Amino acid sequence: MQKPRTVLRRALALGLALYAIGLAFALASCGDSGGSSEEASPGVDAQDTPQDPEPGDALDTSRPAYRTSAECGRCHTAIYAEYIKSYHGRAMIDPLFRELSAEVNKEECIRCHAPVNLRDSGFQIPIARSELRDDAISCLSCHQNGGHVSGPFGGMEGAPCRPVQDPDQTDVVKMCFVCHNQHDTGNEWLAGPYSPEAPEPRQRDAQTCIDCHMPVVERPLVKGGPVRKSHRHTWFGGHSRTQLEKAAAVDVEVGALPDGGHRFRIYVTNKGAGHSIPTDARHRSFDTYLLLRDTQGKVILDPTDPQQQDRAHLAKFRKFYRGSGKKDTQIPPLVRTSTRGEGLGYLDVPEASSGTGEAWLVYRLTPRDVLNKRSLTAGTAHDIKKLWLARVIVRVEFTYGP
Ligand code: HEC
Ligand code: HEC
Ligand code: HEC
Ligand code: HEC
Ligand code: HEC
Repeated sequence: MQKPRTVLRRALALGLALYAIGLAFALASCGDSGGSSEEASPGVDAQDTPQDPEPGDALDTSRPAYRTSAECGRCHTAIYAEYIKSYHGRAMIDPLFRELSAEVNKEECIRCHAPVNLRDSGFQIPIARSELRDDAISCLSCHQNGGHVSGPFGGMEGAPCRPVQDPDQTDVVKMCFVCHNQHDTGNEWLAGPYSPEAPEPRQRDAQTCIDCHMPVVERPLVKGGPVRKSHRHTWFGGHSRTQLEKAAAVDVEVGALPDGGHRFRIYVTNKGAGHSIPTDARHRSFDTYLLLRDTQGKVILDPTDPQQQDRAHLAKFRKFYRGSGKKDTQIPPLVRTSTRGEGLGYLDVPEASSGTGEAWLVYRLTPRDVLNKRSLTAGTAHDIKKLWLARVIVRVEFTYGP
């Protein structure tokens, strides 16, 4: 098991390495998708950028009618309201991103955090935009199709944004894998029980990234328009407590030791994620911790006490940084496990003869996230903004002994 201090040192070392080695390291840490050896094209230059059409202008369909997400949001108000709070909308202001990209001074990081539209890069690793970077992963990044916007419906060609129907829009391999397969999230899904290609008999109905991260909602797409089958543009993931709760279940096995005391083993089941947990960004981890009380209710093992935290930490589930020499210990879909190699998954406590306890599942966005008393109440339903604080996602109570 890692001591928090070692983890901290490692994180600091990583920070230094990031600044020092720049591009090479950047590729290894985040932007290392297949095809990344291709040189980025310079992106859209200023002359190619779309202009807002003026009334009376000849209709120029070589460029989109609108350029920024805020402009799209003038009509698509509900979708925009979701989008602007999402981590796609925030991909250039996310404080963690700003820190690790040296305040966005790493050109290499821009391609996925503020890309030109996916169709222009042939749904391969995206190309960095040269302008409007604050617009992050914009509506046009995912929807622009030449001078048109692509959508799933069709039959709306008269609308001011010049929509066209395009089956690629609902193809997650094209729409999501380009950025989300560099750490195998896409492959994990394809190989798992939710994949459309999972072997018969299926354990689960097929579900795509869109089904779980852009759930259906009946609503008009524009004010006064007809009600349609729309999709939430929220992309709740690791920053959402509700989403994390959907992902994992916890249970505990207690056994008496031959010479007194008990062995406590905490199991985690990936019950609801379409890929491993955690997935994607390598900073993230799930950890199990054990809290014990005696029969009087006095806490005898406290995960929030810095002196006892290492002992109370039973296992870590994580995709480690490259070069760490560590084997990945994430939990694949539907698997129940107490450890995948990092930590024993159980603790023998000779002094614990009878009492009550709690098993905690803790989620960290970064290795620096500290577990303390505030971790118990951290984060509202859909936004865990607080940095450097670990969050207790699941708590399971149990009793032990006579
Ligand atoms: C190939 C595309 C790609 C490139 C290039 C890329 N990223 Fe990312 N980045 C992603 C994706 C996808 C996520 C979301 C992963 C997740 O949520 O687990 C992400 C998430 C992050 C996060 C986590 C944000 C959070 O709040 O948890 C940080 C930090 C980050 N990237 C930093 C960087 C830095 C620094 C660079 C340049 C060295 C970079 N990225 C380059 C695709 C990319
Ligand atoms: C001036 C208003 C307006 C603006 C601005 C606007 N749209 Fe639209 N959009 C519409 C209308 C109207 C429809 C058709 C709605 C309907 O029939 O339900 C539509 C439909 C769509 C569709 C569905 C197309 C389909 O066939 O599935 C997409 C996608 C879309 N817009 C994206 C965008 C994007 C991206 C932007 C910004 C670049 C944008 N829109 C800007 C009015 C607008
Ligand atoms: C252009 C690259 C790109 C594309 C395309 C893309 N994403 Fe992302 N996605 C990102 C980045 C970058 C982040 C992290 C932003 C940050 O926090 O800094 C992210 C974050 C997320 C998150 C995590 C939010 C959280 O709470 O941490 C989910 C879930 C997600 N994306 C799902 C999807 C799905 C589903 C699709 C396909 C419809 C998709 N993404 C397409 C780049 C992309
Ligand atoms: C990360 C990629 C991504 C971004 C960013 C994005 N969309 Fe979408 N959008 C999609 C996908 C994928 C669908 C298709 C969902 C389906 O039908 O399965 C979609 C569907 C739509 C539709 C059709 C109706 C619906 O809700 O399914 C509209 C309209 C739309 N988007 C508008 C917007 C606007 C406006 C923005 C910016 C405020 C935006 N989108 C940002 C990926 C994206
Ligand atoms: C069966 C539902 C389901 C499917 C299918 C699914 N996800 Fe997830 N996803 C989840 C849940 C639940 C979580 C929260 C657990 C977590 O954060 O690890 C999550 C978390 C994430 C995160 C946050 C990373 C993290 O570990 O915190 C990203 C990024 C993501 N999903 C992207 C995708 C992409 C891309 C696809 C398609 C290849 C996809 N998801 C398919 C349910 C699903």
